[in-house]
Amino acid sequence: MTDYREDDFLREDQDFEDALIYKGVNRQRKRLHVEVTKKPIASAPKPTRKTSYEQSEDVQRWLTMHREDEESAKPPFNPAFLASLRDGPWVRSSLVQFYEDDLITDVVHVVKSGKEATVYCCTAHPSTGFEYLAAKIYRPRMFRSLKNDAVYRFNRAQYDLDGNIVRGRQQRSVQKASNERKRAAQVAHWIEHEFAVQQVLYEGGVRVPRPLAQVGNSILMEYIGDLGDPAPTLQTVTLERAEAQALFDDIIENIELCLAQQCIHGDLSAYNLLYWQGIITLIDFAQGVDPHYNPDVYPLLVRDIERVCQYFSHYGVQARAEELAHAMWQRYLGENA
Ligand SMILES: Nc1ncnc2c1ncn2[C@@H]1O[C@H](COP(=O)(O)OP(=O)(O)OP(=O)(O)O)[C@@H](O)[C@H]1O
Ligand SMILES: [Mg+2]
Repeated sequence: MTDYREDDFLREDQDFEDALIYKGVNRQRKRLHVEVTKKPIASAPKPTRKTSYEQSEDVQRWLTMHREDEESAKPPFNPAFLASLRDGPWVRSSLVQFYEDDLITDVVHVVKSGKEATVYCCTAHPSTGFEYLAAKIYRPRMFRSLKNDAVYRFNRAQYDLDGNIVRGRQQRSVQKASNERKRAAQVAHWIEHEFAVQQVLYEGGVRVPRPLAQVGNSILMEYIGDLGDPAPTLQTVTLERAEAQALFDDIIENIELCLAQQCIHGDLSAYNLLYWQGIITLIDFAQGVDPHYNPDVYPLLVRDIERVCQYFSHYGVQARAEELAHAMWQRYLGENA
């Protein structure tokens, strides 16, 4: 009478079992849903059997579960704050993955626009343990031109298109890479590099914002400051003379901690030091260089220390940058001989 096959139902029953087992895996659930709702055979009549099948307890349970999941699905990521921004769509697409991954829930204000990136204050997802997070988003133009790119790439570990460190001739060939795809890959590795460096430093006890995640052109990290009141950079604050020496010593100690983690900041100054409630935090490791691969980077260490000394000299802190750098470098070489 009919060519309807019994094992079509059996297979579907199994699919329902699978659906229950794989609860939470959306793609699979959708695929299974498609499989179970499609007609087993196009021409097959599906009368009473089908009706009773849909009324079965398992099916009802599965449908209810599916409906509940749909209802509890996240609303789309559309921060109201971004609606008024010209580059709102770019910011939204740069952050949506952090939202999907339950790291942020909203974007609340711009912290600051730097030369290469803009930092936004986001409300953190409760599971992160933070109230706010800072998202540093590199601008699209970064994918076309990088400030000081050649200078700094020369001085640090290079990465090929697969993210492996390359040296010598291979390194030069990466530097010469000029087509768009390679260019984009280099910038992507640059941002990955910044995130990776910050992770190593954080774990090594250096006072840097805790990095949480990096996706594409964006880095998500601990936010320093209060809502609407981000930590100022050191060049905008007036310190108490009495606290200057201790802050200076603290920064020098952190520079040495960086070195112990095979990192020289390379662009350290009062512009990349945050000051919040008497505590200094080092930021912006985009140009961090690795002395292990490039022993010629000593001058960058000297320059970092010089800038810090210069800033604190206005508060009467006396220090000789060359001597400090030399002593630090000798200790580093001794430990890495
Ligand atoms: N974790 C943070 N918490 C609070 N504010 C931050 C944080 N990270 C960065 N900022 C603010 O954002 C600004 C820009 O950040 P950063 O220096 O990393 O980017 P940049 O584009 O390299 O900037 P610049 O070119 O000005 O150095 C900083 O000067 C600081 O005011
Ligand atoms: Mg900076």
